[in-house]
Amino acid sequence: MRRLHHDTLDSTNAEARRLVARGVALPVLVTANRQTAGRGRQGRTWQSPRGGAWMSCVWPTVHPAEHYAALPLVAALALWRTVRARLDDAASIDTPPLRIKWPNDLLVGGGKVAGVLCEREADGACVVIGVGINVNFSAAELPANVRYPAVTLRDVLGAAVELDALIADFADDLAHLLRGFERDGFTAAMRRDVLERLAFRDEAVELAAADGRVIAGRITGIDASGRVLLATPAGEKGFAVGDVSRYHRSTEQELNHP
Ligand code: BTN
Repeated sequence: MRRLHHDTLDSTNAEARRLVARGVALPVLVTANRQTAGRGRQGRTWQSPRGGAWMSCVWPTVHPAEHYAALPLVAALALWRTVRARLDDAASIDTPPLRIKWPNDLLVGGGKVAGVLCEREADGACVVIGVGINVNFSAAELPANVRYPAVTLRDVLGAAVELDALIADFADDLAHLLRGFERDGFTAAMRRDVLERLAFRDEAVELAAADGRVIAGRITGIDASGRVLLATPAGEKGFAVGDVSRYHRSTEQELNHP
């Protein structure tokens, strides 16, 4: 995939969208050494110091929007493989488990090492897949108020990771998965791969829904359109958007009054 690299950008997703407006040839990967206004899901800020892998893949789309519902999980699968390979390279270290936290975060142990922000262009002609991986800096450098506890690969491995090789491997794997996804959709094999790597599977969680409600339940699976399935006192329910975290007592109210 052609790569356009910058030292500093406001946000690689924002730059990707500017390039789309100017009619750039697709697909293309936009990368930056640092972002000054990195964006996270649900309008949040994404801390993006030097040493991270900050990138946005602009991928041309050919199907209606429904086809792309599971796209964040496909990107998360590519992320899992890229990061897993780095952990395996350091086999001398007893690395903590690597899990996909639905819909598209990557956790090492309990900490978030990467996140994905997918934005579909209004004309439906392409999608921007923004990916941030915490690589060669220390999570201790980040503000204490990041929403989910962060971890970096350097923190876990005790050594720096070759950033360009990591970005190139991720882009190759993502492009490979996306070609299959365009052709066959979110296949049973992809769904199985996500399920095998899913954080909090069969565990009690709370899901903060887009409308502000917090729903408590147990994760039972992922459906064919990439929704997470929760067993709740009101039965099994599927969610297309939301933030999952381990269950806290504060949601007992919703458990009793779903
Ligand atoms: C999240 O977990 O909330 C998603 C974070 C996505 C961050 C990446 S960094 C590269 C790209 N550019 C952005 O502004 N955001 C995404």
